[in-house]
Amino acid sequence: MPIEIFEMERMQSTWENIVDYDLSESGVRPLTLRELMEMGFDLDAFLDVPLGYSQSNGTLELREALAALYKGSTVDHIEVTNGTSEANFLVALSQIRAGDRFALETPNYMQLWGVPRALGADTRTFRLRPEACWEPDWDEFDRAIEGGARMVYVSNPNNPTGSVLSDAAMKRIVEGVERAGALLLADEVYQGAEITGPRTKSFWGMSDRVVVTSGLSKAWGIPGVRIGWIVGPKKLIAECWAQHDYLTIGPNKLSDRLARVAVEPANREKCYARTRELLGKNIEIARQWVRGFGGFLEWREPRAGAIALMKYHASVPSLELCQRIRERQSTLIVPGKQLGIEGHVRIWLGGREDYLKEGLRRVAEELKPLVVNS
Ligand SMILES: Cc1ncc(COP(=O)(O)O)c(C=O)c1O
Repeated sequence: MPIEIFEMERMQSTWENIVDYDLSESGVRPLTLRELMEMGFDLDAFLDVPLGYSQSNGTLELREALAALYKGSTVDHIEVTNGTSEANFLVALSQIRAGDRFALETPNYMQLWGVPRALGADTRTFRLRPEACWEPDWDEFDRAIEGGARMVYVSNPNNPTGSVLSDAAMKRIVEGVERAGALLLADEVYQGAEITGPRTKSFWGMSDRVVVTSGLSKAWGIPGVRIGWIVGPKKLIAECWAQHDYLTIGPNKLSDRLARVAVEPANREKCYARTRELLGKNIEIARQWVRGFGGFLEWREPRAGAIALMKYHASVPSLELCQRIRERQSTLIVPGKQLGIEGHVRIWLGGREDYLKEGLRRVAEELKPLVVNS
């Protein structure tokens, strides 16, 4: 299947391990294996476990634990995957055919821009509006699904805005999806990474047309374990499993075991609390930094997630700006262009405080001359 380059992921994989300061990330500083041992992972017992294949759709124990998080679901409503990205990929691969209509909100994590296009779908976007607390532009939403659609994709909480949809907006999206006879793919990988406010509600249960994807990468802070999942109608899950057999067969044994520890209710809350504490401190650092620009930078503070989307008041394209920052300051941030929103940059808030401060100082070195000229 020919597919266009996933620009943001490629930019990250090329540079993230080379630069001095990587502020292109989007999760919190990851947990270590030792920290997972402190939460109950028995490393010593695992040393004697034969490293055979694991249950390819996720062990029963892990699927039972995950089913407990999504009211009304059972182990047959769940497929465990290699990260949320594989979860999204399997849903698209199993459901999208050439000529289908696919609608996604922008800005967004652009995986489900490239994949449906590669599958031959008529892929359309509808914008989130900053002036409306990043709620969708409803005219664009209606146009994107007008006459029927196969799938609508949202990330909620959203990457890169960190915004959370209101109950009314969620309801309106579901109504549109039902009207269009579509499926709603709700990517909820940032659920649990709320900096302020209550836990983000899941779309799960709002309609039998809802499919949820999520994983341990963001709110839990364990992306390296590469565990994600799909929660959906049984038939769709069976279709995803069929694709999975051809793709990676399944997640590895160690990851499945680690995930079982992480998703235990007490550990899950511990991980979420760690994320909230870390982000609560770092957002204050970002606030002060933004203030120092006296209006040149504009943002709506994220409600969830370790990312801040900032609009800059200068005409330089975001790709050029970020390249300059990388070359001169050895610091990586994400150009808005790669997220479907020009004139913005995305900055990671999830690292150590001193790391964030020095990364921001370096970014400022390149932004300040623009302030003078703006
Ligand atoms: C909205 C969204 N979905 C999926 C992913 C991929 O997550 P994972 O590391 O679990 O594959 C990301 C990563 O940034 C993301 O932001």
